[in-house]
Amino acid sequence: MPTKATKRSPRVKPGQRDEETLRVLISHQRIRERVRHMAQEIRRDFPNEPVHLVGVLKGSVLFLADLARELGGEVSFDFISVSSYGKGMDSTGEVKMNKDLDVSIEGRSVLVVEDILDTGLTLKYLLRLFEERKPKHLRVAVLLDKVERRIADVKADYTGFVIPNEFVVGYGLDYDERYRNLPDVCVVRLGPRGKTKIEA
Ligand code: IMP
Repeated sequence: MPTKATKRSPRVKPGQRDEETLRVLISHQRIRERVRHMAQEIRRDFPNEPVHLVGVLKGSVLFLADLARELGGEVSFDFISVSSYGKGMDSTGEVKMNKDLDVSIEGRSVLVVEDILDTGLTLKYLLRLFEERKPKHLRVAVLLDKVERRIADVKADYTGFVIPNEFVVGYGLDYDERYRNLPDVCVVRLGPRGKTKIEA
């Protein structure tokens, strides 16, 4: 999720947490296998070229780290930070940059690495920004794609999993900056107050 601004249910007062139920949607093992296959597809398209990974902070960090190791060959990476979300689980539709890339992408084979494609507004903003900088190639890899939610006319070149319209956390994705370290991708649901439950 965006480093992205604080996300809290409007029903939850500051400092108070609703019960959050987590259900595993995609296990770490399935993620690992899929990431390996994605890396093979990418290397098939760029067999002998250095690939410059551009991770969108912070949600893509774990995906990028695993993808980079599976890719092999010459790989470099850089990060950009943008905000696309206001409070709660819904997007405001606005995208703004918080941190730009450190190095130029001109003439490079760039692979934008995103955690999840939702409305597509973030990716549309990024592609427009990067295209102006004249990379040699500009491709997109997303781990998750909520196809039903799409507003902007964008699609990824490499997609891990198409998922239903549910709010997910884990493997880099957060809810209110929590759960990024879960190894699996889980659906999070808010319920009556209490402790967080994790169901298999
Ligand atoms: P988009 O601009 O609507 O496509 O939103 C993209 C960003 O929203 C992603 O990079 C995530 O950071 C965040 N996001 C969208 N859906 C989810 C979700 O289900 N869980 C966590 N973050 C999400």
